[in-house]
Amino acid sequence: MEKVIPTAALAFTIYILCLLGYRLTLHPLTKFPGPLIAKLTNGFGGFYALRKDIHLKIYEDHMTYGHAMRYGPDRLIFNTETIYNSDRVTKSHVYRAAQQHPDQYNIFNVRDRGMHRAKRRLIGQVVSEKSMRSFEPVMLQQIDVLLLKLMKASASSVPVNITPAVRQLGIDIVGHLGFGYDLKMQTEETNHWLMKAFYLGDWRINVCMQWPLLTWIRPEVISGLMPNSIRARLFDLLDTMIKARLSQKIDSKHDLLGVIAGSMGDDFKSLRQQELWTEALFFFPAGGETTATAISAAFFYLSRNRECYDKLAEEIRSSFASGSEIRQGPQLASCRYLRAVIDESLRMCPSVPGVLWRELVNGDDGTDPFIVDGHVIPKGTQFGVNIFSLHHNEEIFPKPFEFRPERWLEAKDEEARKIMDRGFAAFSTGSRGCAGKPMGYLECSLVLAKTLWYFDFEKASDLGGGVPGLPGIRGRTNLFQVDDTFAATHNGPNLKFIPRPEASHELN
Ligand code: HEM
Repeated sequence: MEKVIPTAALAFTIYILCLLGYRLTLHPLTKFPGPLIAKLTNGFGGFYALRKDIHLKIYEDHMTYGHAMRYGPDRLIFNTETIYNSDRVTKSHVYRAAQQHPDQYNIFNVRDRGMHRAKRRLIGQVVSEKSMRSFEPVMLQQIDVLLLKLMKASASSVPVNITPAVRQLGIDIVGHLGFGYDLKMQTEETNHWLMKAFYLGDWRINVCMQWPLLTWIRPEVISGLMPNSIRARLFDLLDTMIKARLSQKIDSKHDLLGVIAGSMGDDFKSLRQQELWTEALFFFPAGGETTATAISAAFFYLSRNRECYDKLAEEIRSSFASGSEIRQGPQLASCRYLRAVIDESLRMCPSVPGVLWRELVNGDDGTDPFIVDGHVIPKGTQFGVNIFSLHHNEEIFPKPFEFRPERWLEAKDEEARKIMDRGFAAFSTGSRGCAGKPMGYLECSLVLAKTLWYFDFEKASDLGGGVPGLPGIRGRTNLFQVDDTFAATHNGPNLKFIPRPEASHELN
């Protein structure tokens, strides 16, 4: 026995050295440049994901190593255009990190195409443009709660931190859309721990995606054993929401639960609730956090770019006759500057800033070469685009750190516009692109337009921007700073709201 342990340790050491040597010299990705440690281990990405600034590290590394870079023993990152449109590409196996149980999938982590199509059809019924027409009154009610909060804060001249305000709004809206349940995030503090729960869940998933070895160490198993853990509370709350909804008639509301239950008939109550839970666990961060980032970024940039603020205010205030007229329809769709502000905010501050890892679909052995940016992708490679880097690639978006909504309206010609469209991946693209895009745009448009109808606003502090003196992007004071926890997390901006006398009486 005494001899077996040193022999095993020696054999293991030799194995590791051979593996590292192979990764550096003989591996099919050897010719690609990239940070040395990243070529040896995914722990490199895992380390920066833990620090929550991997999106910025990748951006800086593109500056050093170019547009095609090796960022893991079997990983490549590109920075020229979105690669997500191809039919030959599917989500990487690293999305397993987001599974609650090995045999349960939701629309986000499912890889099987047939299963994905079925889930997409189902969820599409809830988040489609058509569905938004019947859901809009609920969304508007929730936005009114936000506007009244802004009104109250303005009466006592208290600045408002936009990030928590719009995260609460987003979670409330998704609570209604998912379960017809009022979580009262905007009006009571009871469920505020949910924001931490989603943040921790997203962060864990991101770290495990960068360093899949960690997927085997499942921290939630340990935390689930603790009765008061956030995970246990989350599951209790989901249980309450599902039970509350099931006590009502299934077709009494048009929500995710109603649609899924309707599609399952009698199976539903007995067998499939687990599946609904896992769908729900994704629905909240997907619908709540992402939209909150877009809105926070838009408020940040508008409060720092007076000309853009004035143009948008003018467009909104001349397009409608009253605040209640601001709703989905041709009038809102004709506000082109508003759409440009949202796109420019998402360009500068993508709600999902990191790499969406992909691989060739099962059964595609790479015999017919799959080419990205002139490079053949060897079989078994994980590849993707870092959305923050792509959106700040100056060959696609000149002066990328300038907030210029006009760039979306003034593209010189068709070709220039096409280049920008190919470089804009805030919602990703292709069959796995965002299913909730119409809802995301609607919510952002309504919040921005209604706020500018009832209020003027201005910067109350520097919160949200970079810190002077810090190196690189973190030192850019005019850039809305986010941490990469798969969905972006952030704080600020802090704004002072001033009611417009000619409009604010409508709100009361
Ligand atoms: C500004 C708002 C939003 C942004 C920027 C955004 C961004 C994204 C991105 C980048 C993905 C791809 C993720 C990946 O490939 O791993 C995605 C997927 C998805 N999003 Fe969104 N999203 C937004 C709003 C919403 C909303 C409001 C919902 C609905 C509640 C939603 C539901 C989904 C779903 C269901 C998927 C998975 C699609 C699939 O795999 O088929 N999103 N979103």
